[in-house]
Amino acid sequence: MARRKIALIGAGQIGGTLAHLIGLKELGDVVLFDIADGVPQGKGLDIAESAPVDGFDANFKGSSDYAAIKGADVIIVTAGVPRKPGMSRDDLVGINLKVMESVGAGIKQYAPDAFVICITNPLDAMVWALQKFANLKPNKIVGMAGVLDSARFRHFLTEEFGVSAKDVSAFVLGGHGDDMVPLVRYSTVAGIPLPDLVDMGWTTKEKIDAIVERTRKGGGEIVNLLKTGSAFYAPAASAVSMAEAYLKDQKRVLPCAAHLSGEYGVKDMFVGVPVVIGAKGVERIVEVKFNAEEKDMFAKSLASVEGLIHACKEINPALK
Ligand code: APR
Repeated sequence: MARRKIALIGAGQIGGTLAHLIGLKELGDVVLFDIADGVPQGKGLDIAESAPVDGFDANFKGSSDYAAIKGADVIIVTAGVPRKPGMSRDDLVGINLKVMESVGAGIKQYAPDAFVICITNPLDAMVWALQKFANLKPNKIVGMAGVLDSARFRHFLTEEFGVSAKDVSAFVLGGHGDDMVPLVRYSTVAGIPLPDLVDMGWTTKEKIDAIVERTRKGGGEIVNLLKTGSAFYAPAASAVSMAEAYLKDQKRVLPCAAHLSGEYGVKDMFVGVPVVIGAKGVERIVEVKFNAEEKDMFAKSLASVEGLIHACKEINPALK
């Protein structure tokens, strides 16, 4: 069987890290696309030259011509600009919406059947617009945010409890902004929910509250440290786990920004919810039961995403 083809649109910090991880995991051949001529070619060649050392088989091609993504099985989109200190993800909407329009046209022409994972911010609005620009089936496009936000939550919990990250499971739903919804009740250490761990004296409610707040601001914490851009290692790892679930038909249950058509009472929006990812793309949307407090948090997060979608429609009336 021929190797699968994975196209990366945007060969910046996240794009380069994606290419390297995909090579190390031998998920398929990689095409890096970027408008900055030379960058995708240079990164592709550099990673290809690491293959003899690490012993993986994959081809890497860099291009500034959309024809290079023709027939891709998976496309991961990071094209656009990242935020700098003092900026919110929402400040990127004007610039990145234009980028989504050109990326959407490229996908529509050359790889309309691909499974598309969008990472560009502000995530929930950009994935919504990209689905429309590329005219993709709603089950073949997701946004990467929940896996990353949950990984941040899991990392902080791992540090708090001094246990292996493998045994900490957590999930964060809602939009990928400061109103995201870390679900304490559904987060566990080896199956033991966090509220029980508070009762058992492993931690305190105050400490969990502080971790929830740090998770919400997790992206900003990295931006303030890096000063020149935003996080890229954990975002890339998160998107690769989603691509792997699709390519290997793993049926993984992952929080993703998925198209909702009535689930959670939401219509024609992308927002972070748990989904099953397998060979058919988004195979199932998991409708978690919220308590009153979680319902309020989710509604607040939805309102923020709605505001961003409204802003997109104002900028580009074709999206109305
Ligand atoms: N088409 C293709 N590539 C583009 C376009 C475009 N229209 N516009 C910009 N790019 C490329 C840039 O040339 C750059 O190489 O997108 C790349 C973005 O890379 P970085 O600036 O390094 O940003 P990165 O850290 O990878 O983040 C990308 O993901 O997490 C989000 O907020 C982040 O929106 C940002 C995106």
